[in-house]
Amino acid sequence: MPAINSQNANTETPQRPLLQVQNLRKYFSTKRALPAFGESPPVRAVDGISFDVQKGETLGVVGESGCGKSTMARLLIRLIDPDEGTVILDGKTIGGPGGLPIREMRSRVQMVFQDSYASLNPRLPIEESIAFGPISAGVPHDEANERAIAILAKVGLEPRLFVHRYPHELSGGQRQRVNIARALALDPRLLILDEAVSALDKSVEAQVLNLLSDLRKQLDLTYIFISHDLNVVRYISDKVMVMYLGEIVEIGDVEQVYEDPRHPYTKALLMAQPTMDPNRRTKEAPITGDPPNPIRPPSGCRFHTRCPFAEPVCAEKVPPLIRDGEGTRRVACHLWQEKSGHSKAGSDMAKELSYAG
Ligand SMILES: Nc1ncnc2c1ncn2[C@@H]1O[C@H](COP(=O)(O)OP(=O)(O)O)[C@@H](O)[C@H]1O
Ligand code: SF4
Ligand SMILES: [Mg+2]
Repeated sequence: MPAINSQNANTETPQRPLLQVQNLRKYFSTKRALPAFGESPPVRAVDGISFDVQKGETLGVVGESGCGKSTMARLLIRLIDPDEGTVILDGKTIGGPGGLPIREMRSRVQMVFQDSYASLNPRLPIEESIAFGPISAGVPHDEANERAIAILAKVGLEPRLFVHRYPHELSGGQRQRVNIARALALDPRLLILDEAVSALDKSVEAQVLNLLSDLRKQLDLTYIFISHDLNVVRYISDKVMVMYLGEIVEIGDVEQVYEDPRHPYTKALLMAQPTMDPNRRTKEAPITGDPPNPIRPPSGCRFHTRCPFAEPVCAEKVPPLIRDGEGTRRVACHLWQEKSGHSKAGSDMAKELSYAG
């Protein structure tokens, strides 16, 4: 358990999760080409997810493109409003009457996006880009500029060389360091990183990942780290959450999940990972094709149309996300729930199932 930042020692309780997400849901309405046909069913982008993030930990979030990772991130920081659900930051419900005002939440929760260029104003020198947030929050100009300089040094950019530069004069890695600096300028507790290193070259990506790890310890930060790259998520995360079609299918300690994945979708994702071994690179993934359309997700377990272990019960009953074994892991699969009606239900049988057979 990391030391609590002295600034926050009075307001934070060590045992309480920093973030509690309860039954968060967002459906996007879609329009038909011909209005006469009325509204079509919505896209179920995030469909009732619940999880906690502990102080000081990094929660990795993985899943195929379109499974709702970015929507979840945008809901957490209220770039979009949820249809349903509650988000509690350090014990206080975000928004609503009597809740933590959105504006206050935004100084404690910040986000870094993939596109390092689009996030920066091309006409502002770096120093001003970083100082912009604090100035908007009422920090005097001089103090905000001093803060910008100090943060530039923290993200590994020599302030003397960078304060007066413009975004187009920087490399992709440098721009992403500036975006991290901007996110840190308001002294947040939680950083949400949505594919934040995905556009960088591998060597630059590794440097930025190391920087993020160092900053987390130095500043006692908590991260939600979203990436389609499972290797990167393993490297940086303490826990991992696997999403499929707007739902959580498995969540737990990262090593436990990677070493011994329980949900067939998690197994499939891990097997589909590209490896450094050229002989394995072209090996066919155990799941093929794209996920089904989130406008009409499959009944029961949403993975049943692609799962090699699916049985009739899988299309009939939604498997609840429940605790599996001793640890903190939770899994949503009938194989792992006794008396679920799946013929192989019960841990011992389920353990023996593999894609190799
Ligand atoms: N503003 C929007 N309007 C309609 N559909 C959206 C919108 N944003 C995202 N979606 C849909 O919601 C689903 C989840 O998208 P997203 O959260 O971006 O997934 P991910 O980040 O995991 O790739 C996708 O089917 C996507 O097309
Ligand atoms: S519930 Fe059934 S279909 Fe879904 S992952 Fe488990 S075995 Fe496969
Ligand atoms: Mg995304």
